[in-house]
Amino acid sequence: MATATSPASIIDIDDLGLDRGAHLLIKRALRELPVGGRLGVRGQAPDLLVHLAAWCRSQGHQLEPASPPVVAWVIRGSAETGRWRGAEQAGKAAASEQGAVVDHPKASWGLAARGATVEAGAPEFHFALAVKSEIWADEAGRLYTQAAAAQWNPDTAIDWDASFDLPAEVEDAVVQLMTYLIENENAALLVPARFLGQIHPHFKEVMQVLAIQMADEARHVEVFTRRALLKGRRLGLSTASGQASLKTLVDEPDFALASFLLSVLGEGSFLNLLSFLQAYGPDPVTRQIARLAAQDEARHVAFGMAHLQFQLAGDPTLRHRLALAIERRHHALAQTSGLNEEVFDALVLLAAGAWRPAAIGEGYARVQALNSEMAAGRRRRLMKLGFEERAAEGLSELHTRNFM
Ligand SMILES: [Fe+2]
Ligand SMILES: [Fe+2]
Repeated sequence: MATATSPASIIDIDDLGLDRGAHLLIKRALRELPVGGRLGVRGQAPDLLVHLAAWCRSQGHQLEPASPPVVAWVIRGSAETGRWRGAEQAGKAAASEQGAVVDHPKASWGLAARGATVEAGAPEFHFALAVKSEIWADEAGRLYTQAAAAQWNPDTAIDWDASFDLPAEVEDAVVQLMTYLIENENAALLVPARFLGQIHPHFKEVMQVLAIQMADEARHVEVFTRRALLKGRRLGLSTASGQASLKTLVDEPDFALASFLLSVLGEGSFLNLLSFLQAYGPDPVTRQIARLAAQDEARHVAFGMAHLQFQLAGDPTLRHRLALAIERRHHALAQTSGLNEEVFDALVLLAAGAWRPAAIGEGYARVQALNSEMAAGRRRRLMKLGFEERAAEGLSELHTRNFM
């Protein structure tokens, strides 16, 4: 109960009713008073007293009778007794702050901004990926910022009008490669998409990294398609074994295993393929798109590595599950023929640059070298994830021959 010594003031709201926004003026005036302070309300709106009583109840303030011209006294309640009783802060906005990102964000924090004060009684959202140890990476925020700054416009970043004319068979080889790349990009877009909708938004930076990764892949699909069609050709062949390999990625229900197979092993191998195309692409457009896509892919690999390292630090048994995932995929694909012959031949021809036997021999050797570089890259990343050298070597060899 407020006493006569409680600070008091009087507000005149004229004929403005609480049904027309008068509560803004009353709230503002109450903010000037301490808890227990008294605000006299004057006004002529119809039913003002009835509306004031209801509003005070909903806000946790008391109402006391008054004598004209004051309609009533509003006694300021505390947030603890009002609407915000039981509200809680959902972590903190800046991930770098102590305790900002919690291990188990509540389902009722739902879509609230991390760091917001969430009213009690908010609906529960049941996100399947809601445990920090399973998805978080401290580098996520930095990778997102980097990715946002590195977005490129397919229209202007690539010199589509560059004049070049390739021999028909070389152009066909480029079109075949682009056709193959597009189906791999489709997988790389859909895999994070499947998990993005399951992530608790408390892990904002992870959500942002995956969203921008999908935008990257959408752009890759665009530029590879544009290059394939640049000289009026039709798209090339899509093989059953290539799609079988990608299907195992799309079907993988576990976030850690999917990003291990896709980002660490698949996109890791693609980094080598893209630098191969930067070196041996027969035209400036192919070389440019390979360079730009490789920059994006490097970030995708980095995030996959970062969150697996984070998870492994808390759960070393994950390493065994990662190894089993490679073996399982190897067995599932054992009956398929691996990299499609047309893609392999296209790579040899591009690296050869000519039809002379010596040139073809050279191209063939370069594709073998590409395979070795890919295997070495996978081995290196596996060792960074804590696999022994010999295990890393063995697992690297079991990776799909389809590259992705
Ligand atoms: Fe991509
Ligand atoms: Fe990617």
